[in-house]
Amino acid sequence: MAKSAPSFVCQNCGAAYNKWQGKCEACGEWNTLAAEDSATAIPVSARSKRKGRTFNLESLTGSSQDAPRIPSGMGELDRVTGGGFVRGSIILIGGDPGIGKSTLLTQATSMMAKAGHRVVYISGEEAVAQVRLRAARLGLADAPVQLASETSVEDIVATLSEGTVPRLIVIDSIQTMWTDTVESAPGTVTQVRASAQALIRFAKKTGATIILVGHVTKDGQIAGPRVVEHMVDAVMSFEGEGSQQFRILRAVKNRFGPTDEIGVFEMTGLGLREVSNPSELFLSDRDLGSPGTAVFGGMEGTRPVLVELQALVAPTTLGTPRRAVVGWDSSRLSMVLAVLEAHCGVKLSGYDVYFNVAGGLRINEPAADMAAAAALVSSLCNAPLPTDAVYFGEISLSGAVRPVAQTSARLKEAAKLGFGRAVLPEAARGDPGGDAGLTLNSVGNLTTLVAEIA
Ligand code: TYD
Ligand code: MG
Repeated sequence: MAKSAPSFVCQNCGAAYNKWQGKCEACGEWNTLAAEDSATAIPVSARSKRKGRTFNLESLTGSSQDAPRIPSGMGELDRVTGGGFVRGSIILIGGDPGIGKSTLLTQATSMMAKAGHRVVYISGEEAVAQVRLRAARLGLADAPVQLASETSVEDIVATLSEGTVPRLIVIDSIQTMWTDTVESAPGTVTQVRASAQALIRFAKKTGATIILVGHVTKDGQIAGPRVVEHMVDAVMSFEGEGSQQFRILRAVKNRFGPTDEIGVFEMTGLGLREVSNPSELFLSDRDLGSPGTAVFGGMEGTRPVLVELQALVAPTTLGTPRRAVVGWDSSRLSMVLAVLEAHCGVKLSGYDVYFNVAGGLRINEPAADMAAAAALVSSLCNAPLPTDAVYFGEISLSGAVRPVAQTSARLKEAAKLGFGRAVLPEAARGDPGGDAGLTLNSVGNLTTLVAEIA
């Protein structure tokens, strides 16, 4: 057999090149190309010359015998998966080192094992004793989870093929796994991809659910195996600010459930505690009555989440003023600033603007525009906003306040948490808002809002 040419594979995105180069053209990363043996490519002579085999086509309306989903017993985790683990599915959970992935999965596996399912936890990073130590710390030492410290995919598949099929298998982490079928070192794209493929085959064949843990690079990509993201059924990221206790589980991709739901947890000395009412947490240490803060009545999937937005507008000595944003889209902030400047006569070009979403939450909704504008104007004019008001509404480039969806859910949540009034768009999209018992202040144009605050 002719010796196969070496190929260079980007360790970030998996793009392959014939020769080495400094920058990967596919993902734009520098110094990520590494030589890998392309011997795994199937030689032409080995390709099948047989005729195709016929198979049965099935009806879409046919029923499956097994319960399609098994809940983990952790409400916040099930909310993100879409109601539990689907049989034969593969979930990739990514997150920074130390964020709590192993803790989350130790808790989830223990709960499922206690409910009577066969659950296996394979750690490629920690020894069995270390996993036990963590479980003991979490008060879960008595859970009948089966443990192993292994990294060979062939050994894992052979072991798990015996006995009853495990209901859930955790592989912590996919970067530590390796398979004999390829020659590259563990952690390289080729190894990670081949290992993931072998595990996916096992899951589809047996109906077991497999959770792969993946490490994340500094810019938030799941390191190396971005290719794996395409192969799995769901990709979840476990996020949080290092200094804060909140952890947010977010679905980035989900073939069997929603992608806009979040699960909120709090890291305590006894593991992760589920937070079923996130608004209370995000509003817990509010700085009442100080200028530059506004409460946004937001939605995360089907759940309303109230969160405090903070703005600081300070005179600048720089030619180009600073715009720093945490937790929100910076181009969205620029847009709101431009509308304030162009339509409402609010001059911001001589000011630095700092913007922050409290509690480490990341907001994606355009409905946050109005709350953001209120916080900005409040900081600029040094005029505190009423402490019992919530704000929501999308701002268009003309300065008009546009309606947003799910008004009544937002209002109900605000009423539940003791807010007395809401500043909202004139029209509602979908549902009208109803009687949540709040004083409603409808705003048709951003100019009206600015006049009320200043
Ligand atoms: P871990 O689950 O090991 O993180 P990952 O697998 O994502 O790397 O969590 C490590 C951190 O969590 C560590 O800094 C200690 C903290 N922690 C707690 O605060 N309380 C606990 O009960 C546990 C088990 C960990
Ligand atoms: Mg870990």
